Amino acid sequence: MESRDSGALRISALRRRLLDWYERNRRDLPWRRSRDPYAIWVSEIMLQQTRVAVVIERYRGFMERFPTLVSLALGSEEQVLALWSGLGYYRRARLLHKAAQFVAAQHRGNLPATAAELRALPGIGGYTAAAIASIAHGEVVAVVDGNVERVLCRLEGWSGVKGRAAAAHRRSLEELANRLVSPDRPGDFNQAMMELGATVCTPRNPQCLVCPIAAHCTTRGEHKTPPRPAMLSREVAHALAIRSGRRGRAGKHEDQILLERRPAHVTVMPGLWQLPVLQDAAVPESVLRMTVRHAIMQVNYYVRIRTVEEKEVDSLTEKAGQRRWVPLAEAGQMALTGLTRKVLTRAHLLPVEPAIAQAAD
Ligand code: ADE
Repeated sequence: MESRDSGALRISALRRRLLDWYERNRRDLPWRRSRDPYAIWVSEIMLQQTRVAVVIERYRGFMERFPTLVSLALGSEEQVLALWSGLGYYRRARLLHKAAQFVAAQHRGNLPATAAELRALPGIGGYTAAAIASIAHGEVVAVVDGNVERVLCRLEGWSGVKGRAAAAHRRSLEELANRLVSPDRPGDFNQAMMELGATVCTPRNPQCLVCPIAAHCTTRGEHKTPPRPAMLSREVAHALAIRSGRRGRAGKHEDQILLERRPAHVTVMPGLWQLPVLQDAAVPESVLRMTVRHAIMQVNYYVRIRTVEEKEVDSLTEKAGQRRWVPLAEAGQMALTGLTRKVLTRAHLLPVEPAIAQAAD
């Protein structure tokens, strides 16, 4: 068995190798230029279940419109959702907004500094609390997200477990991560572990030859990642109904588009705006404007978009919520579903980089 000293030496070597690697390889991400706990909080919430490339696009617009926690607390939910459009998992945005209002009212706008206090806020779990506290305040607490869990399992040769044993497994992972975390640079250490899992110790084809901690690793990539669940397929069709040439507020002719608000009681994307749903998903070629594939969680949607004349709208669509004819310039600033934004952009009805940074007050 390893002595206490040799164990400690091994851990400090692992920390040093990982941190050196991070210094050389860290991605230059906008939120890494700030130690503002609010900015780090926003980035960590956006990064949950969303790829870094997608987050970068949305993060800038969000922080321009809501540069401080209090500005976010004072914003309307509609504005917050508009700026979140395309990131998916809108519950995160609603909870972030609610938590900002709570902190503005109860903590004079100052986000609590410790992981334990942060965890008490709506939408902040153990992983996000540890990320904010370690990166912004240097608290020595380890982050264990999905990427870090994979790195640790491979290091130790543990396999993932399900059912009753899962809670004990989770505790072992957290204990191990907290033993490894660097007491001097916990924020960098945590980000290095997440970065390693995202870029080197990937689920399939891990790059063990360039891994800075391969010498410490029991399995060198042998750890089996559970296969991804099979995606389901669904076919849907939406109506693109445009009224042309109405006079807009600025005296200009503006085209308007018919949008429908998803009801508040639905579980997926309540309150977001979308193109009306057609009753029949089988759209004849002659009126098919485009087809789009759009993935939401485990479902691939194969979406047909047909052009619909104003007079046909009622007979062809299912009325599921409140409807509005909206000038196109305004539509880009609304809380659209990601699919709706994708369709309107591809149809050149919205600019490619939506002008949502200055969402209307
Ligand atoms: N994933 C989530 N948060 C991250 C961070 N701060 N650095 C790298 N990957 C992350």
